[in-house]
Amino acid sequence: MTVDANRIDALQEENRKFPPSPEFAAQANAKPDIYNRGFEEFWEAQGRERVSWFRPFDKLYEWEPPYSKWYLGGQLNVCYNCVDRHVEAGRGDKVAFYWEGEPADERRTITFSDLQREVVRFANGLKKLGVKKGTPVGIYMGMCPELPVAMLACTRLGAPHTVVFGGFSAQAVAGRLNDMEAEILITQDEGWRKGNKVPLKANCDDAMELSPTIRSCVVVRRTGDPVNMTDGRDIYADELQAGLSDDPATCPCEPMDSEDLLYLLYTSGTTAKPKGIVHTTAGYLVGVATTHHYIFDVKPDSVYWCAADIGWVTGHSYILYGPLCNGTTGVIYEGVPNHPNEERWWEIIERYKVDILYTAPTTIRTHMKWGPQYAQKHDLSSLRLLGTVGEPINPEAWMWYRQTAGLGKTPVVDTWWQTETGMILITPLPGVTTLKPGSATKPFPTIDAAVYDEQGQEVPPGQGGNLVIRKPWPAMLRGIYKDPERYQQTYWARYKDTYFVGDGARKDEDGDFWLMGRIDDVMNISAHRISTIEVESALVDHPAVAEAAVTGRQDPQTGQAIVAYVTLKATHQASVELLSELRNHVSNKIGKIAAPANIVFTPELPKTRSGKIMRRLLRDVAEHRALGDTTTLADPGVVEELRSRAVAEEGKEQ
Ligand code: WTA
Repeated sequence: MTVDANRIDALQEENRKFPPSPEFAAQANAKPDIYNRGFEEFWEAQGRERVSWFRPFDKLYEWEPPYSKWYLGGQLNVCYNCVDRHVEAGRGDKVAFYWEGEPADERRTITFSDLQREVVRFANGLKKLGVKKGTPVGIYMGMCPELPVAMLACTRLGAPHTVVFGGFSAQAVAGRLNDMEAEILITQDEGWRKGNKVPLKANCDDAMELSPTIRSCVVVRRTGDPVNMTDGRDIYADELQAGLSDDPATCPCEPMDSEDLLYLLYTSGTTAKPKGIVHTTAGYLVGVATTHHYIFDVKPDSVYWCAADIGWVTGHSYILYGPLCNGTTGVIYEGVPNHPNEERWWEIIERYKVDILYTAPTTIRTHMKWGPQYAQKHDLSSLRLLGTVGEPINPEAWMWYRQTAGLGKTPVVDTWWQTETGMILITPLPGVTTLKPGSATKPFPTIDAAVYDEQGQEVPPGQGGNLVIRKPWPAMLRGIYKDPERYQQTYWARYKDTYFVGDGARKDEDGDFWLMGRIDDVMNISAHRISTIEVESALVDHPAVAEAAVTGRQDPQTGQAIVAYVTLKATHQASVELLSELRNHVSNKIGKIAAPANIVFTPELPKTRSGKIMRRLLRDVAEHRALGDTTTLADPGVVEELRSRAVAEEGKEQ
């Protein structure tokens, strides 16, 4: 094997394959010929089929790299598509959301008619505060029903929103509000998380000190505890809406041009200030509705649960806009998976007979750590399809998910996409695609994905490189808000007219894609670039390991040496024997070169609020703690440092 430092070595082989069952294939929304459809024909048809237009579009798209526009000349409204048209079509009594609060006895069933009334009343309240087409609105809430209501009310009026995840600090909120120059802030008194109250309004008070453009703050009552209210600025939502009509005729849906701004969503780079990712109206809505229909195989009577937080793009695209546009019944759960105990998720699935579940690998691994016994106490036979998103999924976690939640029979769709892409771009189509644990498989129809080397040449099968997308797609970002230079630099400077994803990937002989994590998660060991995920997968494959995070540290001999942070299953104990077993296990699975120089046992891994492992922090700790060059058993100092730094990091997370 020749050693090429510019190549990402893809060492691990995963050979299991799961072709679709004939029964699933026969009833699937996607049929194999979907891959033969032409780019323009496909998106023209989706544009006409999935969305109702106030004025039809007359041109499918324009592509002037790095900017694309879609469905030009059309006019539509997102709230109309997600709510009103379903009521007008006689489906007002259909459930839009089953909502389940974190406190176990709080539940609400919200039909499309209920949703319409709530949205109209909320929008009428916002109108009283002067909100109209183009008014920028910030939203900082937990997963209570008023969060989707507030977002839909904004879209009804044509007011762009930015939702800030309820776990972010006041400073992070202020940074986003200032960048957007938001005029209105919608929040709630407090939220619920792990049985504790989260002081959302108090955080907003601190944020508003730093955000001079906010003139009104609307406060939804959730816990009902008293909070500070500043006269002339803050108003409770119920007081604002008192006496206002919920008749849709009093608040018609604003006709929006296809390319009008729908929302900004800020995403962290690993270092610099967050980027305001711009999404516009028509292309985004068509893109998320189309992918939701085919990838999740949604049926008219489906009960679909995307267990993300609406504060992230997954929640925007696949809790709210895609599913509601398709008139799908969804589940929204406010809290953490283990409140009041580890059975909560499975109870919810059983109660509502959820047939489609979409979550992140990190959550699956958390359930793995707790053990399968909680799921096994519940009737999960309603589940027909499982999905994952957010990071590469270890084959073992994929298998566990299919076995434990899917009872060994459901397809698992590993969906790759980003805040920037707006919609899923690489994914199996259930009923069509042969699944491979750990692979996101094929580009969605019309998506032109490839793996490039540094020179911009496609690499041969099996070899790692940079993932790129060569043609535009309807839901793609329209830029970074107020920063065209950074947009150009981040995504379009590496290769000409080609979208640079920032993820490593390889394509196998069958044309299936294997994502290898962010480029900056790639280690360089003796001039081999090895993806952290491959080593993590090998570790998690060992029966004692629940979760693992791997990073590189400087090493005078090998360039970098591999440091692994490992969380064991409750059934296993750290020991010196286990250490060498794990090293051997990785050597056997991948090769000696990938065996960690250091293994640190830790009861938990530091994670961002969206569940991504804080790799920069791990790398930092690995670098400056001088772990030495032999395997070290749990170093209490390191574990303690991990914990305290994770807490500090969370506070300043931007
Ligand atoms: C990673 C989340 C592997 C990837 C929708 C991407 C994935 C980043 C997958 C975007 C997947 C997301 N397999 N990696 N199925 N899905 N990623 O913006 O590194 O929060 O670039 O969007 O998550 O994260 P973001």
